[in-house]
Amino acid sequence: MVDTENGKNIEEISSNMIDVVIVGAGFAGLYMLYRLRESGFSAKIIEVADGIGGVWHWNRYPGARCDIEAMQYSYSFSEELQQEWKWSEIFPTQPEILRYLNYVADKFDLRKNIELKTQVNAAIFDETHSRWEIQTSRGDRILAKFCVMATGCLSASRIPSINGLETFKGHYYHTGRWPQTDVNFSGRRVAVFGTGSSGVQIIPIIAKQAKHLFVFQRTATFTVPARNKPLEPEYEQWWKSNYAEHRKQMLETITGCLALGMKNCSAMSVTPDERLQEYEKQWQKGSLNFLGSFNDLVFNQEANDTAAEFLRSKIREIVEDPTVAEKLIPRGFPLGAKRLSLDTNYFEAFNHDNVTLVDLQQAPIDEITPTGIRIGNKNYELDDIVFATGFDAFTGALFKIDIRGRAGKTLRDKWADGPCTYLGLMTSDFPNLFIMTGLGSPTVFANAALCIEQNVDWITNCLVYLRTNHYETIEPNTEAENDWGKHVNAVANFILFSKADSWFNGANIEGKPRVFMPYAGGVNNYRKKCQDVVVNGYQGFILATQ
Ligand SMILES: Cc1cc2nc3c(=O)[nH]c(=O)nc-3n(C[C@H](O)[C@H](O)[C@H](O)COP(=O)(O)OP(=O)(O)OC[C@H]3O[C@@H](n4cnc5c(N)ncnc54)[C@H](O)[C@@H]3O)c2cc1C
Ligand SMILES: *[C@@H]1O[C@H](CO)[C@@H](O)[C@H](O)[C@H]1NC(C)=O
Ligand SMILES: *[C@@H]1O[C@H](CO)[C@@H](O)[C@H](O)[C@H]1NC(C)=O
Ligand SMILES: *[C@@H]1O[C@H](CO)[C@@H](O)[C@H](O)[C@H]1NC(C)=O
Ligand SMILES: *[C@@H]1O[C@H](CO)[C@@H](O)[C@H](O)[C@H]1NC(C)=O
Repeated sequence: MVDTENGKNIEEISSNMIDVVIVGAGFAGLYMLYRLRESGFSAKIIEVADGIGGVWHWNRYPGARCDIEAMQYSYSFSEELQQEWKWSEIFPTQPEILRYLNYVADKFDLRKNIELKTQVNAAIFDETHSRWEIQTSRGDRILAKFCVMATGCLSASRIPSINGLETFKGHYYHTGRWPQTDVNFSGRRVAVFGTGSSGVQIIPIIAKQAKHLFVFQRTATFTVPARNKPLEPEYEQWWKSNYAEHRKQMLETITGCLALGMKNCSAMSVTPDERLQEYEKQWQKGSLNFLGSFNDLVFNQEANDTAAEFLRSKIREIVEDPTVAEKLIPRGFPLGAKRLSLDTNYFEAFNHDNVTLVDLQQAPIDEITPTGIRIGNKNYELDDIVFATGFDAFTGALFKIDIRGRAGKTLRDKWADGPCTYLGLMTSDFPNLFIMTGLGSPTVFANAALCIEQNVDWITNCLVYLRTNHYETIEPNTEAENDWGKHVNAVANFILFSKADSWFNGANIEGKPRVFMPYAGGVNNYRKKCQDVVVNGYQGFILATQ
């Protein structure tokens, strides 16, 4: 029998049929593969990179580290794994996290079901057979009952379009696509664009190496010191002595992290002196827990202002040149409305004679020339340019794939005015397609490892339920999907997150619809909602036997 469309033999195609295709081999894809295999499904990961690890494969720039403690930003699914793995630092570097993920892949024998160096170009739903056809860069067509997009919320790196970039004679790099070989900036004149989390990490390191570093800043950023240090044996032991219990407590928090010794009261309920003392204490301790110094910093303008003012005063203290300090001070958006960054000597770097801050608010770039950057009649001579300019977040990697659901409808068309999902997990008219990219879910505001495990467990349990009850397809109904979208928006408007242009709402990408994409209602509430949906017989989903 011949499949007229492709001239391929149906038997040949069917032998290529598996239960689940997973796209992406990061934190999400790896655990998804593990859980599916444990539950008796045939599954396979397709990954474009030449190694596993996702974010931790691609972001090899100097200074790359996690900013949630690795004791928490790690898998919890295997007690053996979490007991035997040893982190060297509170916030380990990229090579160590990548080693960890490779260790996981080996320990659970995942590699045999991972196909590297293969890009998924299209995923087409075949309504007649209720199955997905996955087309890859190798020209393969893989048929699967289900498809899981574990393509990452921050995997589509993005370089802003600047006139003349293609004429530049030096080297240029994106932090999210860093070369696998070492880059040596010594003796070179380097520009860094972008002062988000990656820029904040890389700038102090290049500042030490380069002959001269120019930091081109569009928006100033709030940071809190990381105060990274070796993992102390007592602290490690405290975690490991009761890991399961601690992980359980993490699930009950908003951020999916245990923060010890935090105050649970309003910033406005204490005297200004007490408030400053608390900020100082948290600042000395370091970590993103700073945002939890009081319980209303993200809800209450007045409270938010006191914390922001505290961080501004720290910038004035650290940066010696008052003019430079003023340029580095963030204004016009609430603290936390853009992702807060952890830093190690970031503001200190601007005290170095060989570091120059160029404020793009005052004058934008005119062009990149073969030898540097021109702003007005000023030329900056450069050998290298580093783009720490972030990602086309949430939807970028999905839209690179030609995804077609019922009646040939494309995902790009469906989401032309902004993405809509039910629980961030599925979208109507795209049956049996699961999404884990942080859309409509709390992942990016929280400990992503924990959120990913929650998503994967939910999806696996769902597939087991379908199998047990002989259902062929699952997809959300449009009402449930619309309600979830409204809820995600309502929560974003309630807190202060929606009040800044950022990658949370697509403002970093020209022409991208302004829709607040992640769910800011907390890990605990999200998880409860996901559980309730299941308890109520997959409420809001359409389950069909044919
Ligand atoms: C520098 C950096 C630091 C971070 N630090 C933290 C942190 O400390 N704590 C935290 O909670 N979160 C952090 N994050 C967020 C991070 O995105 C998540 O923690 C997590 O790693 C996401 O895992 P993932 O598997 O969902 O996606 P990813 O790790 O992005 O993996 C997705 C994979 O899919 C592949 N892929 C995409 N499209 C295709 C295609 N069409 N075909 C084939 N393969 C494809 C990509 O190549 C990639 O390997 C950080 C992110 C970055 C960029
Ligand atoms: C970088 O280059 C400088 C000078 O070219 C050299 O002295 C130094 O050893 C190099 N560093 C590394 C880590 O290769
Ligand atoms: C700083 O810059 C000056 C002038 O470009 C240069 O001569 C000097 O070597 C640089 N210092 C370092 C530490 O690279
Ligand atoms: C903070 O206090 C409120 C009200 O007193 C309580 O409901 C909540 O559980 C407390 N939260 C934490 C994290 O202790
Ligand atoms: C805190 O948030 C409020 C509400 O969005 C905002 O008006 C205020 O400017 C913020 N404060 C600072 C210092 O950014």
